[in-house]
Formats: sequence, C-alpha cells, structure tokens
Amino acid sequence: MTLQNDRFLRALLREPVDVTPIWMMRQAGRYLPEYRETRKQAGNFMTLCQTPELACEVTLQPLRRYAFDAAILFSDILTIPDALGLGLYFEEGEGPRFRKTIREATDVSNLPKLNTSQDLSYVTDAVRLIRQELNGSVPLIGFSGSPWTLATYMIEGGGSKDFRHAKQFMYNEPDAMHGLLSLLAEAVTDYLNAQIEAGAQAVQIFDTWGGILTPTAYQQFSLDYMQKIVSGLHREHEGRQVPVILFTKNGGQWLESIAASNCHCVGLDWTVDIGDARRRIGSSVSLQGNMDPSILYASPDAIRAEVARILEQFGEGEGHVFNLGHGITPQVDPANVAVFVDAVHEYSEKYHRN
Ligand code: CP3
Repeated sequence: MTLQNDRFLRALLREPVDVTPIWMMRQAGRYLPEYRETRKQAGNFMTLCQTPELACEVTLQPLRRYAFDAAILFSDILTIPDALGLGLYFEEGEGPRFRKTIREATDVSNLPKLNTSQDLSYVTDAVRLIRQELNGSVPLIGFSGSPWTLATYMIEGGGSKDFRHAKQFMYNEPDAMHGLLSLLAEAVTDYLNAQIEAGAQAVQIFDTWGGILTPTAYQQFSLDYMQKIVSGLHREHEGRQVPVILFTKNGGQWLESIAASNCHCVGLDWTVDIGDARRRIGSSVSLQGNMDPSILYASPDAIRAEVARILEQFGEGEGHVFNLGHGITPQVDPANVAVFVDAVHEYSEKYHRN
C-alpha cells in the first residue's frame, strides 16, 4: 500500500519534504476528553493497552483532530517489565507501580526469558489493526523504553525522584546491573523487531532517565545498550527503510555519542538549541524536537512565536521532525494543540523551497 503522507519518514532520513512534519510525544493521552472517555470505558490503563480495538481507537483519536504527520502506537514502555512478571499496575493519579522489584543479583537471575510473540502479542495485534485502520494515511511509529530507563522502574518499583535504589544497584552490583541491561536489550530488540514486522514504519527508543547518569555511566549503562539494540534491528520492511529515533531526555551534552550509535534521528529535549545541535550532529542524523511542552499553556500568539523561533533556529533544509521536547501534559487545552500543529506546517514551508 502506498503511503499518502510520508514526510515524517522522509525527514527522518534527511530527504526533501514540502513542510516540516510534526507529531507529539503522548499525543494520545489525558488532555483529550475522548481519551479519558475510552479509558473510563476500559476500566484501567492496562486493559486499554491490552485490548487492540481500544488501543487502536485511542491511537487514532488525535489524528481525527489534528494534522499530525505520524501516528504512535498506543501502549507503554512498561509492558516489557510487566511481561517479565513484575506485575504492573496504575494507582489513580500516582503513576506506574510494580508488585515485584529487582533489588538483588538473584532477582536478575530469576527473571524469565521473554517470548515476545507470545507474551506481548497484544502489542503486535494492536500494530496490525492500527495499520489497517490508518489505511496508508500517515506512518505508524513503534516504540520501547531503553534498557536503562526500564531498569530504573524495575528496581525502584515505580517512578522516583532520586533513583536511589537504581543507582545503588548500579554502583554496588555492576555485574548484576549489566546482566539486567543485557537481558533487557535483547528483549527490546525482539520487541521492536516484532513491531516492525507487524507494521511499525519507524521506531523510537525512549531513554527518559539516561540524563540522570554521569557521562561515563551514561555511556556504559545506557548508550552502549541502545547501540546494541540499534545494530540488531531490522533495517528495512515493506521495501522501505525503518528509521530509528533515539531520545535521551537531558542528553544534550552527549549528542555526538548518541549520533554515533547508528540511529537515524536524535530526539532533543527543550534544553538544547536545535541550531547548535544541527551544527554538532546534523551532517549524520536528523533531529526531532524540541519545543518546551509548557509553551502549550501559553497564548496562541506565544505558541506561534515559539514555533517560528525553533524553525528559524534549525534553518533551511532537511532533517527536522518537529515535536515537543517531552510528552504533552494532561492540563493542556486541546485547542492550543491545533494552533501548534498548524503553525509548524504554515511557517515551515519557506524553509523547504530549494
Ligand atoms: O506517545 C503516545 O501517545 C503513545 C503512548 C505512550 C504512553 N506512554 C501512554 C501513557 C508512550 C510513548 C509512553 C511512554 C512512556 N511511558 C515513557 C517514556 C516517555 C516519557 O514520557 O518519558 C515513560 C517513562 C512511561 C512510563 C509511564 N507510563 C509513566 C511515568 C506514566 C504515568 C505518568 C502519566 O503521564 O500519567 C505512564 C502512564 C501512561 N502512559 C499514560 C499514558 C497516556 C497515562 C495513564 C492514564 O491514562 O492514566
């Protein structure tokens, strides 16, 4: 099936586009009343993820409202630890929790080997259904958490402010930590390849917590494993390249190392100047980002001005996928998202005339 709008895939590969493509991290989520309604109908978040029809419905909701250039699979990065038997659940208003945690070397050696096609078949079923329903309108993004980011949740048992347990485990039990990260890297590789074979046309690895590490620890405990994943991914499917996006939040000081991982695109949070980032790594990778999500609380004029500023910072030519620097937050007015998306398309045309 031919893709009617492929500017997202083209921009990831630094190929010419008519306007800068845009999608938004967490574009399917609680800022949308229709999402909250479907979630209520599902009863809880995991049922929403595990029922392909419902996951498909919420994936498509933002595309009915806005001119996004890509859809992202509705799921969560914590499906892998859940499939490894840790028992994921969501307390109302509290974020994710695990019934079991990893605190000792033996907890790592007791983890089962993941059988992606069996244990996470609900995800690949959702991917196939979404592709069918998208019917070639825009490409579908698959995703996973990075091994390090998944490990932090597995060790802490949920979110954390200081990551005390994860860091303690890393510094006291480096071998067990490497064992855990190797196991996760293998699981993530299988998982992303299964998503690609089911129809994901690009994939993103979310390294939300890589930025809490020292430069040395980042390289050894996060980036090395993402690099391993990138080298194990299927590079082509349905006759097209499958681009890989690496996003390390707070990773601005390590852009050169991230770009050297063989990924196609580097995701940027809002703390870096995208023009600087382009000068540093733009000759080898595309860039995704990087508007501060909080701008969406500001007035339409302020949103438009910020979009114009980022487009100008990036400048003329190819290799930019517009996005937020992190996920949209639940309190944003849905009307402001339309302002944001339309501004990106409208203001970016002049940067793509040659
Ligand atoms: O981007 C999308 O629209 C696709 C869906 C998606 C979700 N989670 C849905 C979700 C994606 C790509 C994620 C990734 C994810 N999940 C990350 C990495 C990206 C990031 O935000 O840093 C992380 C760290 C998680 C773990 C996670 N899941 C947390 C910390 C939370 C609670 C915080 C929150 O926003 O509520 C979740 C739950 C979650 N995942 C929700 C959604 C829409 C909200 C759950 C609800 O409906 O109550």
